[in-house]
Amino acid sequence: MQDAGLRSRPARAMLPLLLPLLLAQPGLAASAASLAPPLFNVSLDEAPGVRWLPVLRNYDPDFLRTAVVQVIGDRVPDWVLRLIGKRIGELERFLPQPYGDEIRGMCNFLNLSLADGLLINLTYESSAFCTSIVAQDSTGHIYHGRNLDYLFGNILRNLTVDVQFLKNGQIAFTGTTFVGYVGLWTGQSPYKFTVSGDERDKGWWWENVIAAFFQGHSPISWLLRSTLSESENFEAAVFKLSKTPLIADVYFIVGGMSSKEGVVITRNRRGPADIWPLDPLNGAWFRVETNYDHWKPVPKKDDRRTPAIKALNATGQANISLEALFQVLSVVPVFNNYTVYTTVMSAASPEKYMTRIRNLS
Ligand SMILES: *[C@@H]1O[C@H](CO)[C@@H](O)[C@H](O)[C@H]1NC(C)=O
Ligand SMILES: *[C@@H]1O[C@H](CO)[C@@H](O)[C@H](O)[C@H]1NC(C)=O
Ligand SMILES: *[C@@H]1O[C@H](CO)[C@@H](O)[C@H](O)[C@H]1NC(C)=O
Ligand SMILES: *[C@@H]1O[C@H](CO)[C@@H](O)[C@H](O)[C@H]1NC(C)=O
Ligand SMILES: *[C@@H]1O[C@H](CO)[C@@H](O)[C@H](O)[C@H]1NC(C)=O
Ligand SMILES: *[C@@H]1O[C@H](CO)[C@@H](O)[C@H](O)[C@H]1NC(C)=O
Repeated sequence: MQDAGLRSRPARAMLPLLLPLLLAQPGLAASAASLAPPLFNVSLDEAPGVRWLPVLRNYDPDFLRTAVVQVIGDRVPDWVLRLIGKRIGELERFLPQPYGDEIRGMCNFLNLSLADGLLINLTYESSAFCTSIVAQDSTGHIYHGRNLDYLFGNILRNLTVDVQFLKNGQIAFTGTTFVGYVGLWTGQSPYKFTVSGDERDKGWWWENVIAAFFQGHSPISWLLRSTLSESENFEAAVFKLSKTPLIADVYFIVGGMSSKEGVVITRNRRGPADIWPLDPLNGAWFRVETNYDHWKPVPKKDDRRTPAIKALNATGQANISLEALFQVLSVVPVFNNYTVYTTVMSAASPEKYMTRIRNLS
């Protein structure tokens, strides 16, 4: 991988992070370097098969192909690869739009097989460890932040991008994703809501996932993106994210526009297992979700929940803001060696959407 860098990263991506004070604090992870990702527009007014090509052209195709192969090879069992290869024709007919054509378009451009293109997405569906927080300040403003932690960080850091999806030339919604991946795990619909997804690991049963996919259940990241694209407000988004059948369990964290609009949805594949809203009148001005059901204790060996809660308590409701939330998401071990990126966002202030790639160098 040593020689597989980006061909021409947009200059914008090289802007140093303007939070040196924050990052210089002791107690943070050894690798404190961080950077804004490149920002791209993807126009939904263009045909799905070509709308991602302007993004892909900024990257070395060899690097993208290598990334696909490496991520897939490390994560997907052999028998799954063989099964997908065998049933690709059948699978192809199952792919809903626009995702099917978008993936096909990218695979054609990169000379990848559709099976590989599909698998990179499926693989990312198991997104490892994450922390999401939704909070309300004393005046009723809603803030939402997330860390995405993943094992293949060194590849994914180079593929992390912020994308503005345009409809009729206007920004319809914004998300953070990896180049080559059409779904979203993090995003914002301006003046409507924000949403993030955290893995709910009940054992990664490939068999179940693939069976569910063939039954027409949605990959998690596609539902997240479709919700950003289609839902008119917080309530509609929560409904769609709660009810739509999925290929795997997940936690969705949603923030809205006004007081009390914040929730953690614990999902089973078929529907909601639990809905956990903010309850600011009773002191619950934030909700923290990592990768464990909130009504159960966290395992001692992976407790990112308690440190996050402590940091939020120390911040105080009066002082919560996007900057303060970023600091909470920078407290070890909420922030850890696997953290690929941190995003903070607020639907009521869409221009403040901010992602930083973490653990560079
Ligand atoms: C990621 O990109 C940087 C330059 O932007 C490069 O030095 C590094 O080798 C790349 N990493 C991988 C895994 O390709
Ligand atoms: C894909 O393959 C075609 C034909 O072999 C070649 O002309 C083209 O340059 C390749 N594209 C990329 C991105 O490697
Ligand atoms: C993206 O599109 C918006 C809306 O048309 C435009 O204002 C902005 O300059 C574009 N940004 C980039 C990075 O192309
Ligand atoms: C956070 O503050 C609440 C309310 O004061 C308290 O009940 C809780 O124990 C605190 N949690 C931690 C981890 O400090
Ligand atoms: C929050 O901010 C206020 C003033 O803005 C300050 O007095 C207070 O100590 C801060 N911290 C907490 C935990 O509320
Ligand atoms: C994180 O990485 C640093 C060095 O890069 C290492 O010293 C530390 O032990 C790692 N922490 C964990 C929890 O693996």
